[in-house]
Amino acid sequence: MCQGHMHEFLKALPKCEHHMHLEGSLEPSLLFDLAARNNISLPSPAEDPSFESIDTLLARYQRFTSLDDFLHYYFIGMSVLVTPADFEALAYEYFRRAHRDGVVHAEVFFDPQAHTSRGVAYAAIVDGFAAAQRRARADFAITSELIVCVLRHLPVEDGARMYRDAIPHLESGVVRGLGLSSTEKGNPPHLYRDIYADAAARGFRRTAHAGEEAGVDYMASALHHLDVMRVDHGIKLPEDAAVMALFAQRGIMVTMCPLSNVELRCVPTVAALPIRTYLDNGVRFSINSDDPAYFGGYVLDNHCAVQDAFGLDKKEWERIAGHAIDGSWCSDERKAELRKHLEDVMVRFQD
Ligand code: HPA
Ligand code: ZN
Repeated sequence: MCQGHMHEFLKALPKCEHHMHLEGSLEPSLLFDLAARNNISLPSPAEDPSFESIDTLLARYQRFTSLDDFLHYYFIGMSVLVTPADFEALAYEYFRRAHRDGVVHAEVFFDPQAHTSRGVAYAAIVDGFAAAQRRARADFAITSELIVCVLRHLPVEDGARMYRDAIPHLESGVVRGLGLSSTEKGNPPHLYRDIYADAAARGFRRTAHAGEEAGVDYMASALHHLDVMRVDHGIKLPEDAAVMALFAQRGIMVTMCPLSNVELRCVPTVAALPIRTYLDNGVRFSINSDDPAYFGGYVLDNHCAVQDAFGLDKKEWERIAGHAIDGSWCSDERKAELRKHLEDVMVRFQD
């Protein structure tokens, strides 16, 4: 178990989280509270006994069989979010827990299409999240950025419409970048090339989920067709040495989510992830929680799981944390602050 000195070090390490879906931080207790308050009917016990109680739901979360099996619960869960205050409460609670885990900068995804399709206004979502971001900065000194995701299980044109609605926020910086999430297999990155070409032409930052359930070809497609700066998950590079070399050479960061990959059966154990391979081959990565309310751990749990599996030394963690700062989409001034924070922690924990 990751305990003692190394645990304290990992907790103190200034962490940048780049792969966390705000809707995936909806803990069952808040889910049931909001369902009652907003009069949202959840599946009946006859339809799905998992929704009988917090405990039965948490038990079901421990038995996901695939990405789509998880997404089924993820989209039902977020149907309880209605008002700007709901979105604010959700995000603020995530920031509180992230601060507890030593996160100093967070770049967080959200899925407008899953809310606007239920009649929730796009502005209500972003207003709620923006209020939580302001409070998190004041209360916890956490800086954060929003990344708007296109949902790939829906028609491409639906995503294109959502993207067009988000352009003013992408231009103003209220939303910092564009992402691509949901069902991966059968929805390859190249289908989204027009949206991403427009985003590139406007100078918006771009990332995409690829190489989670699907193979390295999806990662190569994200790079070549979407011209992404990062790839989310991206655990399939060992399948193709040439693509891995390209990621290393271009400094394309992959945002890994160890507990998510185990819970969704993408790998049998954390030890099966290519952490050591990526360190040895110069592939940059950050360690993230993906959907912490569903996968049984926030960002520090994910760091501890990697430590338990790979027994990294402090210099290696310094490199990982440094790459996470470099790969963040915040200002150069903020990056300089984060690097100073990292240096201070390395001095404090020197052997
Ligand atoms: N993969 C794809 N889409 C998602 C995920 C994920 O792990 N989490 C939330 N949406
Ligand atoms: Zn994800």
